[in-house]
Amino acid sequence: MAPVLTIDGPSGAGKGTIALKVAQALGWNLLDSGAVYRAVAASAFDHQIGPEDVDGLLLLCRDIDLSFKLKPEGVDVLLNGESADARIRREEVAVMSSRIASLPPVRSALLTLQRSFRRPPGLVADGRDMGTVVFPDADCKIFLTASVEERARRRFEQLKQSGKDVIFDRLFQDLQERDRRDRERAVSPTVAAQDAVEIDSTTLTIDEVVAIIMNSAAARLS
Ligand code: C5P
Repeated sequence: MAPVLTIDGPSGAGKGTIALKVAQALGWNLLDSGAVYRAVAASAFDHQIGPEDVDGLLLLCRDIDLSFKLKPEGVDVLLNGESADARIRREEVAVMSSRIASLPPVRSALLTLQRSFRRPPGLVADGRDMGTVVFPDADCKIFLTASVEERARRRFEQLKQSGKDVIFDRLFQDLQERDRRDRERAVSPTVAAQDAVEIDSTTLTIDEVVAIIMNSAAARLS
């Protein structure tokens, strides 16, 4: 079986950026599992299927055709072969994805799809339950955190730079609320696997976090 490195943690800890850099450094495949839930949510919008229609959602899960194309400047999310980044990053899709992600049958239906990304030479998978549920036998598990203040500050800067009008206190409260929901949900809550290396990135740069992960990977994969 191809080796797997998992990166889990709460929203805004920098998992996406860091997973991409680690995948590029190792020359491995990438699975952004949040994009899987977002792709189902986007497809549900297209087919006018609501979160209460579990059977309808399960049919969509069966037909999801998702891939990630790594480029030097970032990653392209392809849905049915077409670039879908803008579509899946919409706010309404984010809200819907979080609702469908709390449905146990949907989570089970997406396990095979997520595991199919495990192909040679290896996989870097980021999300909430990569090391605990989807790849419990992963070779190297990372749990990435940062203080709520720092995660809200990073998100604030990101949104401001893209020209959005944002209120810091509101962002902070939303993030706290989302953390609580993700941690306390019955299925696949955001918790560190027992054998995960925990990294608090509050005072670290992206490159420093990547270097720590690459060292952990080298130690565990040798
Ligand atoms: O990480 P991202 O914001 O793209 O995730 C979208 C939604 O999917 C979030 O609401 C998150 O809770 C959910 N998710 C999940 N399990 C994962 C990855 C994401 O429940 N492994």
